[in-house]
Amino acid sequence: MEITHNGIRLHSNIDNFFDGVRINSGTTHHSQLEKSKVNYLDWSFVPQYEDEAYMVKRDWRKLSEKEINALTATKNRNHYNTIYIGDIPNELKNTFEELRFKECLRPKDVLECMKRDPKVTLDLSNTMQNYLSDFANEQPFHFHFIGANLPNIDMVAADTKVLPLDHQEEDKKCMGIHNDGAELRTVHTTYKSGNRFTINLGTETRYFLYVNLSLTQAYNMLKKKLGLSVEHVDLYNISKLFFKYFPDYPVIKIPQKPYQYYIAATDHCFHDGSTQGMTTLDVLMIYFGRFTQ
Ligand SMILES: [Fe+2]
Repeated sequence: MEITHNGIRLHSNIDNFFDGVRINSGTTHHSQLEKSKVNYLDWSFVPQYEDEAYMVKRDWRKLSEKEINALTATKNRNHYNTIYIGDIPNELKNTFEELRFKECLRPKDVLECMKRDPKVTLDLSNTMQNYLSDFANEQPFHFHFIGANLPNIDMVAADTKVLPLDHQEEDKKCMGIHNDGAELRTVHTTYKSGNRFTINLGTETRYFLYVNLSLTQAYNMLKKKLGLSVEHVDLYNISKLFFKYFPDYPVIKIPQKPYQYYIAATDHCFHDGSTQGMTTLDVLMIYFGRFTQ
């Protein structure tokens, strides 16, 4: 199956950006794929997946010229029809270096970096506020999350709200490729949700995986397939139904190097993060807003 040409596109000022982007032949139920194993510090386990989780196939290849054209953003980009990838400025990098996030070994170390240096943390908060106002379109934005994923997990997203506060990394159940529910909406209005600005604070390249369809486009494809029973499709089951009926729809894989950001409307498209192949901690900082570039 080929990608649909009018979906969610990519915009980046990074030199030769598309050289690093990959595409595959689609997704598969997690039971059909051998999972990557976490072997890091004293952790040694195969991540668990939710019953109906779908994972990306591993037959990655470079994009064709036609695919690059289909995915390159136009001038009419906005906060939900385009994913943006770029480098953060040196001033911000220096502040992150000062807080020594790259030295974090365990997820719980990340907050300690900030606690042990309140002055630099405040400085970081102000610098971020200034920096992000250039992307924010004069709309409100806010800090959402700082934390980490263990290395070598195929699809990192897991719902920790269903777990006790003292849960262990091994207890998490990866949800597979999914749409977020940051703001409660219907399938038809997720474009109104904001988007996220995510910075890689770790030492290695991580990956952002996504399907270049808006949730509305995915819904319309399901409608053609299912007819009237499409009325049972909602924000909670749309990803499972989509990947059940369209397992051949390709996924795009975007490298996010250290100190690069991606901006994506994660309520509005199917996506996940991946630390597959990494050997060190994946540290992330996330803001929510209506960012564009
Ligand atoms: Fe997500």
